[in-house]
Amino acid sequence: MTTHTDLTKAVDLSRKPKPLYARPTLLRHQSGLMNKMGTQPRITPTDAIDGVPVSELVAQYGSPLFVYSQRTIEHRYRELQSNLARRYPKVQPAWSYKTCYLDAVCRTYHKEGSWAECVSGMEVNKALRNGMPMNKVVFNGPAKDEPTLLAALKGGAVVNIDHFDELAAIEQLAKTHGLFPKVGIRLNMATGNTPRWDRFGFNLDNGQAWDAVRRLQAGGRLSLNGLHAHFGTFILDADNYTIGATKVTAFVNRLKRELGITLDYIDLGGGFASQNRLKTQYLPGDQVTPSLAQYAEAVTRGLSELDYAEHELPTLITETGRGLIDEAGTLVTTVLANKRLADGRRAVVVDAGVNLLYTAFWYNFEIETTAPVVGVPEPTVVFGPLCMNIDVVREHIMLPPLPVGTRLLIRPVGAYAVTQSMSFIHLQPAVAMIGPDGQHAEIRAAETLDDLVRNERVPEWIEAGPQPAAGRPATPGRPGTPVLPRLTPLSAADRAIRLN
Ligand SMILES: Cc1ncc(COP(=O)(O)O)c(C=O)c1O
Repeated sequence: MTTHTDLTKAVDLSRKPKPLYARPTLLRHQSGLMNKMGTQPRITPTDAIDGVPVSELVAQYGSPLFVYSQRTIEHRYRELQSNLARRYPKVQPAWSYKTCYLDAVCRTYHKEGSWAECVSGMEVNKALRNGMPMNKVVFNGPAKDEPTLLAALKGGAVVNIDHFDELAAIEQLAKTHGLFPKVGIRLNMATGNTPRWDRFGFNLDNGQAWDAVRRLQAGGRLSLNGLHAHFGTFILDADNYTIGATKVTAFVNRLKRELGITLDYIDLGGGFASQNRLKTQYLPGDQVTPSLAQYAEAVTRGLSELDYAEHELPTLITETGRGLIDEAGTLVTTVLANKRLADGRRAVVVDAGVNLLYTAFWYNFEIETTAPVVGVPEPTVVFGPLCMNIDVVREHIMLPPLPVGTRLLIRPVGAYAVTQSMSFIHLQPAVAMIGPDGQHAEIRAAETLDDLVRNERVPEWIEAGPQPAAGRPATPGRPGTPVLPRLTPLSAADRAIRLN
């Protein structure tokens, strides 16, 4: 295969889709206090998402509210696809379901041509429900359940084996059902990023991966048709991909040379960083996160020594998650209260906390106001609504005083926040999507108390305990304890009250 020229600079696709037209407005100029870095930058409110006023979204769907931009999803996908395809002839992105498996989001990717990358039976079933044929599903993960595995093997899914026990289990399954399936194995290796990701797959550096291939061949049931390597996540140094892909390439060439194995695909996983800012990161994401063009260049440079004729090259599968969707997601939240902490710091309480932003434990999100706010910015702690000490959305951010009711935008939150959010203390909010023409719709309704209790059961002995014996005082947990009224479904009127 020919080597690649450095196209990173030639392809100057901006990270964001072309901004929508916004009416010019006059803003009161407001600067904060002076410090050693200079004055605080002017705080410019963002009152609309993709041209839709935040007030309109909240009026329709409530607060807190996750909002996805379809334009951004599509733009980023096309940017990734085209940057890879310019450098490598056979490219197939597979949307990493766990990053956000809302149907509307997945279907947007599938309409763009993406396959589905799944790591559980639930995710595979969701992909099938979203119209993906099994042979466009990549089935990864360390805990594949047997029924899904069987369906995946029969349906021609890309199945990447994680460990020796799984290899043996798949072999057994194939024997039982008279199958001779093609499978891939997952590799791990040192690529320069830390912490080292060696928990998944077979280690390439110490020979374990080679042993796995020999073991697979010796079984006589399975044939190897692909390799998978997900090097890590939020990898800020694109060169790690060149190192990893170069190692994988050497392995692929050795398989061909020594064992006569030719592959259909090389799956190099996900791991591209978004423009979010890790807590350990000094500079903001827009200054340090490599562009998709740089990642594409790094990946394909590593594949350039593949010892395959051009028309026989294995398909390059990618499983990008956060690098595709993070910037497409915004969390709208509302200020509930202001406080002064004992150490003098200002604090605000907002209606979205770590129940919705588990990711707040490692990111310093941007927090923007949606309307001009008067006052001097000062260091502020942003707390969520949970009655829990750990519920901190930002430990330190310069914000002006924020009156109760002020709407804020937290971003980027498109990756993992929705799939990892939980019904803890508060019910989960709605998720809306804004379409390319400014149309918008709910893509997940706000959770109700009915949703929350749907699978709960109260055992009969609690529901209908013995009645107090005549003349005996009631003792909790003993015969004679008062019987509670039976649980009844909420009335329509009760249900109408948003118990958020
Ligand atoms: C196997 C696999 N593929 C893809 C991804 C998506 O990774 P990212 O969001 O870092 O792109 C993950 C996430 O952990 C993963 O485990």
